[in-house]
Amino acid sequence: MKILFASPEVAPFIKTGGLADVAGSLPPALAELGHDVRVILPLYEQIGEEWRSQMTFVKYYYVRLAWRSIYCGLFQLERNGVTYYFVDNESYFKRQGIYGHFDDAERFAYFSRAVIETPGQIDFKPDIIHCNDWQTALVPIYLLEERYRQNALSRSKSVFTIHNIEYQGRYGRDLLEDLFGLDESYFNENMLKFYDDISLLKGAINAADYVTTVSPNYANELQFSFYAHGLEGVIAANRGKIRGILNGIDMKANDPSTRKDLAASFSSRNHKGKAKCKAALQERLGLKVDPNVPIIACISRLVGHKGFELVCQAFRGIMDMEVQFVLLGTGEWGYEQFFRNAQNEYPGRVSANILYDGALSDAIYAGADIFLMPSIAEPCGLSQMFAMRYGTVPVVRMTGGLLDSVPAYNSEENTGLGFTFGSVDAGDMLGALYRAVGVYYDDKKAWDQLITRDMEADFSWDRSAQEYVDVYRTITGLE
Ligand code: GLC
Repeated sequence: MKILFASPEVAPFIKTGGLADVAGSLPPALAELGHDVRVILPLYEQIGEEWRSQMTFVKYYYVRLAWRSIYCGLFQLERNGVTYYFVDNESYFKRQGIYGHFDDAERFAYFSRAVIETPGQIDFKPDIIHCNDWQTALVPIYLLEERYRQNALSRSKSVFTIHNIEYQGRYGRDLLEDLFGLDESYFNENMLKFYDDISLLKGAINAADYVTTVSPNYANELQFSFYAHGLEGVIAANRGKIRGILNGIDMKANDPSTRKDLAASFSSRNHKGKAKCKAALQERLGLKVDPNVPIIACISRLVGHKGFELVCQAFRGIMDMEVQFVLLGTGEWGYEQFFRNAQNEYPGRVSANILYDGALSDAIYAGADIFLMPSIAEPCGLSQMFAMRYGTVPVVRMTGGLLDSVPAYNSEENTGLGFTFGSVDAGDMLGALYRAVGVYYDDKKAWDQLITRDMEADFSWDRSAQEYVDVYRTITGLE
């Protein structure tokens, strides 16, 4: 099958969150299954010279956005069996920061038009156009008509993946015609109308031939308003074409037995190197170097839905245990400040790293003992998978993909991969941490086996990529 995969961010070129990891690792997995996969993304200023020097210029053309006609330069690069297309328009993408501009609606509407018009320009006839999150939500909507206008799209079906329903692309009704180029007929409850506004995500859910989200459990949770942020009715109305498919991670790139850039390598059968990674981490972060004290780590954006309220409430209780605490991430000022203060209050025991640093995050995955992820909502979550891959035992709230990927530790049968709790409650979270720290101190053998199971757990794309292919087959009727 011919697949065009559109995403506002794709690792390793540009990343702000888990979407980039998925967009970076699912397409090569689909290519490995024998499909012709092309990925398309904006050529942001932040995409570095190391990639630009490998790109070739394909051509330029003008895409239509309502009454505008806008320059689109197309660059291309091959990697891991996949062709990547970069959409160049400096007035939209040569800026600091990739989101959060006053004209994001226009920037991503333009990108969506580029996704729709590029196949015809390069003589590629996609069977599937697979879009991700609100930034590409207009693509399935445009396709409703464009498949009748453009020969290249005449057989194209759309798949729309929700990575996080909280970000919906909600705009005033006045943008509909003038900016997006959609007539009044799109302003109805079965399409984009959301109260008196328009919601791009709602439109995509209605318009796409198939909708997926990133874990089976999140697909269930989206029936409830607590998780669906106002779109539960839209989800219910489209139930028959929605499915949850658990994300995978790149198991090879994240194999601590072959990585050369860690303080030491280690494997599921031999954990010795992990102790070296731990000592190196403690040293690097100014923590007391002590092999016997467990390090609890959080790597996350510091925002409410990641559960930081619980961490703050329970923090004294956590530090009353014999533990060290490492945080990496940026976000809401109040949380940043909380952890800076905590570092001052517990010198040598708490390390607050208010920044984003890929190498440090790998050093933490490899060197920590316990990975805390108390999310209020978590569509899939990849950090818990990375943590397990590096033998760091997760403590998670049973929500979204955390429930699907972290079966609870059972001491009697010696099964499970981590420690879990159910309610959004600081005391319950603390209880799960107590249990984890308890096993760490009191049952070394069980802890060691837990590390082995975590490292060997299969979070590869093999199975999930096949599930996407099943969806593609269902809607195209192709083999
Ligand atoms: C979003 C979600 C996260 C998911 C990721 C990739 O960042 O919040 O749970 O893992 O997308 O699908």
